[in-house]
Amino acid sequence: MIRSVIVGSGSALPKRAVPNAEMAQMVDTSDEWIVERTGIRNRYIAGEGETTATLAADACRRALEAAGLEASDIGLIVLATATPDQTFPATATKVQDMLGCRGGIAFDVAAVCSGFLYALATADSMLRTGMAKRALVIGAETFSRILDWEDRTTCVLFGDGAGAFVLEAREVAAEGYGDGPGILFSQLHADGAHNELLYVDGGASTTGTIGKLRMKGREVFRHAVVNLATVLQAVLEQTGFTAEDIDWVVPHQANARILDATARKLGLPADKVVVTVDQHANTSAASVPLAYDTAVRDGRIRPGDLVMLEAMGGGFTWGASLVRV
Ligand code: COA
Repeated sequence: MIRSVIVGSGSALPKRAVPNAEMAQMVDTSDEWIVERTGIRNRYIAGEGETTATLAADACRRALEAAGLEASDIGLIVLATATPDQTFPATATKVQDMLGCRGGIAFDVAAVCSGFLYALATADSMLRTGMAKRALVIGAETFSRILDWEDRTTCVLFGDGAGAFVLEAREVAAEGYGDGPGILFSQLHADGAHNELLYVDGGASTTGTIGKLRMKGREVFRHAVVNLATVLQAVLEQTGFTAEDIDWVVPHQANARILDATARKLGLPADKVVVTVDQHANTSAASVPLAYDTAVRDGRIRPGDLVMLEAMGGGFTWGASLVRV
């Protein structure tokens, strides 16, 4: 059967690191409060010349290098972002130009913090139906540009960054969800009824402004734990694996307490969960590939491992993908 195999990953962060102590100089907060409620210790904030596209292109270059491929080998670019460089054209086309590849398919996906899961499932479907042979799947964000820097309940939670996978369509000698590498199964969901719990109060067709992020954190937290546990359970049931079979969970990095609560609900030991939220806060669509790339480069995730990727975000949208590395 044909599967989309992850043949390389890469990530990029802005130059400027902003630790909690610096946040405490901007708003009425403290390192203790942020660490206790979220696990976040640091975030990176894009400076002049750093945009969603430049971070995405840097992540892609590293992913291509890891895969031993050139930009000209790529026929499909799917970029997940809620903070595009421009309202249009798609940031994916800008990244395509920065990388120097021409003529393939390039478009953006908007599913906020679950954007990378949506982009991955989309690219996987397109590769398996033969629309391209290799894809760059990117999550890239500059949330610092849509934060209300006077709202301590949100501005301490987010950061900027990018992560990318190179996927390759390969003939794999496998049956069902067993054997061989590749994306085994993805499940995505959306429920538009909760718009007012997590949204941006602006847009091209409403206010004509970019707007600022607004969130009712406590309610989002509650939905996140329930929705994530449900989708993870559904993916396990569909594929016939159990929580014990999973080598690593790479979750959306929103809050260490959400990661703990979700792992506990599934009976997964905390040491199987890749946690990077302490280092780069919530980077929305970038956080899953950023965390994945971190764990590949530090030697935790290895070839043959069974890895669960999962995310939940504004919309609400949520989903999970089970991958054999
Ligand atoms: N520093 C200090 N105090 C803060 C603060 C900050 N940065 N932000 C909020 N507070 C205060 C609140 O004003 C409140 O004070 P009060 O009790 O006097 O009214 C108190 O801390 C508790 O606020 P609450 O919102 O109940 O805290 P919480 O334990 O729910 O933690 C979040 C808040 C946002 C960290 C938590 O709800 C969360 O992580 N939610 C999920 C958010 C998320 O991940 N969103 C993205 C999903 S993609």
